[in-house]
Amino acid sequence: MATREIREIGDEILNRKSKEVKILGLRTKVLIDDMWDTLYEAMGVGLAAPQVGVLKQIIVIDVGEGEPLTIINPKIIEKSGEQTGNEGCLSVPGKQGTVTRPMKVTVEALNENMEPVTIEGEGLLARALCHEIDHLNGHLYTEIAEGPLEDVVYEDEEIDE
Ligand code: NI
Repeated sequence: MATREIREIGDEILNRKSKEVKILGLRTKVLIDDMWDTLYEAMGVGLAAPQVGVLKQIIVIDVGEGEPLTIINPKIIEKSGEQTGNEGCLSVPGKQGTVTRPMKVTVEALNENMEPVTIEGEGLLARALCHEIDHLNGHLYTEIAEGPLEDVVYEDEEIDE
């Protein structure tokens, strides 16, 4: 198990565009393994490679239902509907904001074996796909959040003693 340091807002690598993955070499395989370890340790829903300082078009997403997804070189080819809700980001710790996203998206990408896949995402998965693909284009949700960001209150802080 190897986790990597999560870059935080203000780090300029988060504003840069990631490059397409052409060959899935050992370095990239290790990166993907480390991204999964980093995501699960941070208890996040999704993570994009630039968040661990690597400008490659790779994201990992686990929304807690369905298969965990390793997604390479993703492109959104269709969007429909709208959802407005809370969004957070491991690169913006302790904060959340209100963001409007499509309710459904269709994404074409490669999987962890560099095989072409089409991913249909709805609800939280659609939100996660849009959020992580934004990271690959150098964008954070804070740029499109409606109103000021709020502090996240964690469950264990809500308990009255
Ligand atoms: Ni994020």
